[in-house]
Amino acid sequence: MTTFAHVVGWGKYVPQRVLTNDELSRMVDTSDEWIHTRTGIRERRLVEDGETTASMSIQAARQALEIARLSPARLDLIIVATATPDHAFPATACLVQDALGATRAAAFDLAAGCSGFVYGLSIAAHLLIAGAYQTALVIGAETLSRITDWTDRGTCVLFGDGAGAVILQAGENEGGVLASVLGADGSGGDLLRLPAGGSKTPASHRSVAEGQHFIEMKGREVFRFAVRTMPAATREVLAKAGLSLTDLDLLVPHQANRRIIESAVRSLDLPPEAVYSNLEQYGNTSAASIPIALCEAAADGRIEPGDLVVTVGFGAGLTWGAAAIRWTRPLPKPLPRWRRFLRRLRYVVARLRSRLRRLRRRLVAFWTRDVLGNGREKSK
Ligand code: UT7
Repeated sequence: MTTFAHVVGWGKYVPQRVLTNDELSRMVDTSDEWIHTRTGIRERRLVEDGETTASMSIQAARQALEIARLSPARLDLIIVATATPDHAFPATACLVQDALGATRAAAFDLAAGCSGFVYGLSIAAHLLIAGAYQTALVIGAETLSRITDWTDRGTCVLFGDGAGAVILQAGENEGGVLASVLGADGSGGDLLRLPAGGSKTPASHRSVAEGQHFIEMKGREVFRFAVRTMPAATREVLAKAGLSLTDLDLLVPHQANRRIIESAVRSLDLPPEAVYSNLEQYGNTSAASIPIALCEAAADGRIEPGDLVVTVGFGAGLTWGAAAIRWTRPLPKPLPRWRRFLRRLRYVVARLRSRLRRLRRRLVAFWTRDVLGNGREKSK
């Protein structure tokens, strides 16, 4: 019996704070006209104090679980694709697992730049199709504002913060993620990178003084790579699924630059209505851009059951990826208030459970101190 990996839930979170091109033009030597003509971006969202990649991921995941009508306890796997995790470790996916109360789920982060969400979707779909898991949550989330040099007009006008999530579930009916293609070319790693903060150049006074904890990008070369890669990956994934461009209902590309998207559309000879873009409002949110766009396209009625959707991304690594998805799930009616209240209660219980587990760990440490001894006694 063949198993398929269906998209059964989707959700997004974008911060409240809007930063417009006009505001940016008061911070660096730029203008709304330049930014909009060269990129298609008008504004982007930025996190407030206290918001992080994990906190945005949790909000997006809760929405996706609500649409899927699933309890977090049903999740077997959580993948968070991000270049801006809360910490190097623990994984942001583990923070999400704990906050949701997804007690049965394995959880890990995935670093594949802006292609991260498509990588995560592909991995999760393959695990479901292989029968390893039943239900997976895949999140793309970024807090790029915290690694942006707000004095560098070449990069600060491009990026924004946000999170998007989808839930995949194994099923016997045909549909869901039909095919995916992933690729990498590490020889282009220097074109888009965060120079310091890793094992090669750990954080130091010098690395901070030299501004090495900010995004560094050779924009024109990334542009050329994107223009080449997006149409090629789209064609390849359709061929792998045994389909063609005439079967495509909606292309949901990585939202980096309107000119890159338009070039892909021209090269694929697609009508403008066959492509979704929300770049104008959010800028480039890296791994979050495709799942946020998927959610908005579904909410706008641009994706309906039976539609063939292709998502295609490119980014740091260099990496690229595309997935062909046969959408099978209609947008459900909003939940009644009492059921939404019960759902919120579930997350209060999850928080309580997490605190109890921490307390239990402390108590066990206290009770077993004589048995284990402490470090000082051992070293004598
Ligand atoms: O998710 C993947 C992440 N990255 C990308 O997708 C980036 C792909 N690349 C791009 O989107 C474009 O290359 C950029 C939007 C970054 C730049 O656009 P461009 O048309 O390639 O401009 P450019 O870098 O060739 O610069 C053209 C001019 C330069 O001035 P001169 O040397 O011609 O006098 C820049 O200094 O525009 C200047 N410039 C700006 N002017 C006003 C660069 N940034 C700005 C700015 N405002 N923000």
